[in-house]
Amino acid sequence: MHPTVRKAVFPLAGHGTRFLPMTKSSPKEMLPVIDKPVVQYVVEEAVAAGIEQMVMVTGRGKRAIEDHFDISYELEDVLQKKNKTAVLTELRRITNLAQILYLRQKEALGLGHAVLCAELAVGDEPFAVALGDEILDGPKSGLAQLMEVYREFGAPVIGMQRVPLSEVSHYGIVAGTEIRKGLYRVDGLVEKPRIEDAPSDFAIIGRYLLTPDVFGILRTQAPGVGGEIQLTDALKTLAKNRPVYALEIEGDRFDTGDKMGFLKATVRFALNRPDLSGEFFHFLRETLERETLRQSAGEGVHAVRPVQG
Ligand code: UTP
Repeated sequence: MHPTVRKAVFPLAGHGTRFLPMTKSSPKEMLPVIDKPVVQYVVEEAVAAGIEQMVMVTGRGKRAIEDHFDISYELEDVLQKKNKTAVLTELRRITNLAQILYLRQKEALGLGHAVLCAELAVGDEPFAVALGDEILDGPKSGLAQLMEVYREFGAPVIGMQRVPLSEVSHYGIVAGTEIRKGLYRVDGLVEKPRIEDAPSDFAIIGRYLLTPDVFGILRTQAPGVGGEIQLTDALKTLAKNRPVYALEIEGDRFDTGDKMGFLKATVRFALNRPDLSGEFFHFLRETLERETLRQSAGEGVHAVRPVQG
């Protein structure tokens, strides 16, 4: 039997420059998708995969994340007095979601470095990594899908999805040999390749199941693309030493650290919500109809640009 995966690391220490000025004083992981911060969706995905201990790697200006998962006695008291039982129950559910440990990455030296910061908390056991600004909408928790492969092979598993070729230079790209539908053995990895150098259109998404031997690699690893300690580079080394797998994750992925990804996530999750979907759908339809009329009348002030890629 392979050891159970009990811990998940959430790298949350990035600067979020793609979402400035919003992220100047507020963490991007606290951006709301409807009425929940993005990071809560990610924690709930980990809980759904059976993970019990969350290790959050934060940095300067990220205190709001700690407060969100903490008890607020004052607020609970107010809600109790106002008989707002439903929201009170929801707040208590959030504080009881999991055991959470907070660590600081003093300098944002890269995703690999953020993961290395969690070494002491993780110890000598397998662990999941989930980026706190990426959310999935699908029938099954993304981390639970990785967990199934880990249980079978007892080896590191990387979550991946196909992306348009025009976007490969934004991602770590996987070169692999297919073992069965959707599951590949990793032959190599390239961080942010040019289109002509990309070995495939399979991009690493923000979900991983790793083994503790990755820490030894990260400890001595030189900075890579962008001068950052890249997790992709460490996994590439790991794949030379032992079998590493990559699984095509089912579900739609939204990078909410990117403005377009955030907008799409908001629309999708609003349409998924029974209490909002009806009115919101009509609003969207009306807005699109009006905009289509304006466009065809030549009032192209907000001319819709063709989709890139
Ligand atoms: P991103 O590249 O999306 O984060 O890193 P960023 O640097 O905050 O974003 P931009 O590009 O400036 O807008 C992926 C994840 O890794 C974390 C980020 O918080 C994000 O969740 N990260 C990145 C760290 O925790 N530490 C780092 O040094 C870099």
